[in-house]
Amino acid sequence: MDERKLNLPPETEPERQYFYIEKLKQIVADLTAELSRTPTYCVVTFGCQMNANDSEKLAGILDQAGYKHSESEDADLTIYNTCTVRENANTKVYGRLGVLNGYKKKNPAMKIALCGCMMQEEQVRTTIKKSYPFVDLVFGTHNLYKFAELLYETLTEGGQHIRVEESADRIVESLPVRHKYGFKSGVNIMFGCNNFCSYCIVPYVRGRERSREPGEILAEIRDLADHGIVEVMLLGQNVNSYGKGLEGQQSFSDLLYRVNEIEGIERIRFMTSHPKDLGDDLIRAMAECDKVCDHLHLPLQSGSDAILKRMNRHYTAEHYLGIVERLRAAMPDIALTTDIIVGFPGETEEDFEGTMDVVRKVGYDSAFTFEYSKRNGTPAASYEDQVPAEIVTERFNRLLTEVRQTGAKKAERFTGAVRSVLIESVNRQDKGYVTGRLTNNSVVHVKGDESLIGRIIDVKLVECRGFYYFGEAVS
Ligand code: 5AD
Ligand code: SF4
Repeated sequence: MDERKLNLPPETEPERQYFYIEKLKQIVADLTAELSRTPTYCVVTFGCQMNANDSEKLAGILDQAGYKHSESEDADLTIYNTCTVRENANTKVYGRLGVLNGYKKKNPAMKIALCGCMMQEEQVRTTIKKSYPFVDLVFGTHNLYKFAELLYETLTEGGQHIRVEESADRIVESLPVRHKYGFKSGVNIMFGCNNFCSYCIVPYVRGRERSREPGEILAEIRDLADHGIVEVMLLGQNVNSYGKGLEGQQSFSDLLYRVNEIEGIERIRFMTSHPKDLGDDLIRAMAECDKVCDHLHLPLQSGSDAILKRMNRHYTAEHYLGIVERLRAAMPDIALTTDIIVGFPGETEEDFEGTMDVVRKVGYDSAFTFEYSKRNGTPAASYEDQVPAEIVTERFNRLLTEVRQTGAKKAERFTGAVRSVLIESVNRQDKGYVTGRLTNNSVVHVKGDESLIGRIIDVKLVECRGFYYFGEAVS
């Protein structure tokens, strides 16, 4: 039976989604005639790099369907790609939905869609059904690849469509992508997380760990390089356990060596690493692969062994410090950044001092610090000894002062040196300058124009101001 003749959607993916993209093209053409302009879309990303990467996929599908990209949320189709890692991420979304409703009142044909981690929570979906009837489409992290089909359904049937799946049935490759930058891109190497840190909602909303086949990843990166991408960020919740469940002995360090060989790729970054799975093979790979950047983001979460145990992190402060020592021995210039949670249930002053102690010993280039946020359904949410808010805030401020002081000191250590800088944008304040990054991720401003964007140039780091440099291009 020829499905195309009958105009039935194919059962296989991604063919099925391309079928719906064709259908969407017709709808967009009709809308264009009706509105006397091309309908616009806007994708707003909350949260992490994974979400940013997913948003590029949504935008890619909408570009192909014929929608016009817009940065403004009063578009004809606005999508919030949400995060739920901390409670304030959820609060922010609910707040901004009110604003979207205002836009929709002015433009009744407007469609509003919500997706991402927050939508995987049942309680959120119940709230949206009850209190946000103006939301047209809700989908989740596991069926993002079906976006074309879900949007088609919503546009043709009307009403509120809530389509969230509890787990992923497959990894769907080869859908269109709109790259935010022409010179750098994220690349998913795995999805989900198996660690179940006791505070973290991610394993519940992103599902179990699944690695992509190395062949698929390498083909994607080669294709990116052919299209002018010079920097890739390999993405996963826990990249150090990459390869588990795949056939043969696949490891993250092997993958790094293979990505390092791809012509045209100049810089390789990755995130996120978990200290429990970070072995010497990775340290060696990072040191040996010339394209791997001088930067590692290694979440500490806490410097107290008792708290680390209750967090289910499977390492001690000493083990963590051992990794740092070996990393610095192999790569003396490496920049280290981290995530730290303050006020985890049961955290005593002594536990907190343990965190401060590790922070001082490591001397981070920068740190993301978070007040513990209770997430429903996680084991830590039911721990009885929650720390009072005033104590959490007081500790948080002490930690912030420490990491800012160390960060400022660290930042200036390359003053006077010449380093390579990937130019990323025209400086927002002064159009005569462009802004780029060192391989250690520090920001550098240098005289120049748009034509330098995407190029890697040698820059003398003349002056450090707080957390960034002013430099001069060296020809
Ligand atoms: N409360 C506070 N911070 C959290 N993180 C994850 N879950 C929570 C929570 N419940 C932080 C961790 C993680 C980062 C992405 O977010 O530090 O590394
Ligand atoms: Fe959450 Fe821990 Fe998985 Fe990171 S490693 S996503 S903190 S469960």
